[in-house]
Amino acid sequence: MNKRVQIRTAVRQQRQQLSNEEQRQASMRLKEHLISHKKIINAQRIALYLANDSELDTMSFIHWCWQQGKEVYLPVLHPFCLGHLLFLRYEKNTSMAENMFGILEPKLDVTKVCPLAELDIICAPLVAFDNTGARLGMGGGFYDRSLAHWQQTKLYPIGLAHDCQLVECIPIESWDIPLPEIITPSKSYLFPELCQLES
Ligand SMILES: Nc1ncnc2c1ncn2[C@@H]1O[C@H](COP(=O)(O)OP(=O)(O)O)[C@@H](O)[C@H]1O
Ligand SMILES: [Mg+2]
Repeated sequence: MNKRVQIRTAVRQQRQQLSNEEQRQASMRLKEHLISHKKIINAQRIALYLANDSELDTMSFIHWCWQQGKEVYLPVLHPFCLGHLLFLRYEKNTSMAENMFGILEPKLDVTKVCPLAELDIICAPLVAFDNTGARLGMGGGFYDRSLAHWQQTKLYPIGLAHDCQLVECIPIESWDIPLPEIITPSKSYLFPELCQLES
């Protein structure tokens, strides 16, 4: 586990050193990649996240989704299932509240929840990734749980990260769910072998 903690600390530090201008450019480049992505163009329901801890900013892409009439969803900590996420509709006028990690999320409203299997795309934040698609998050395992059975649904996960979040090798654990695609401002990493169901 120690190596995972070391990677989290080192990469988060690097990410926090990006200037506002670098963040702005990264966000614009990300948007350019996403708006020309076939799966995104065809998607109706897209789960995103609001940037925290210097994560790659998705806000300009969210505005594009709204303009296109796509439905945007954000993760919300499940009120009683510890470690699980719900995905709630996010619109311009959605009331927001800070969760226990200080991250803004839509106020809980069951009528706004979208079941995982009905989402087309989940854009997952991450702390670090490697060139096999392995993903390291903040350490809560939230996306490992949400994505555990994605291959049995229409859901397609895409990791979003700054270029500096690529590391040589992530020591993976049995519960870690790798990502079939990771997009950074400068490059798209594809791991199509991860789309096949394990037999
Ligand atoms: N599908 C799951 N079911 C139960 N526990 C899980 C699952 N996925 C992850 N966890 C737990 O969540 C914790 C954090 O997972 P970890 O992979 O370190 O976090 P992250 O993916 O955010 O980096 C671990 O203790 C792990 O046992
Ligand atoms: Mg994990």
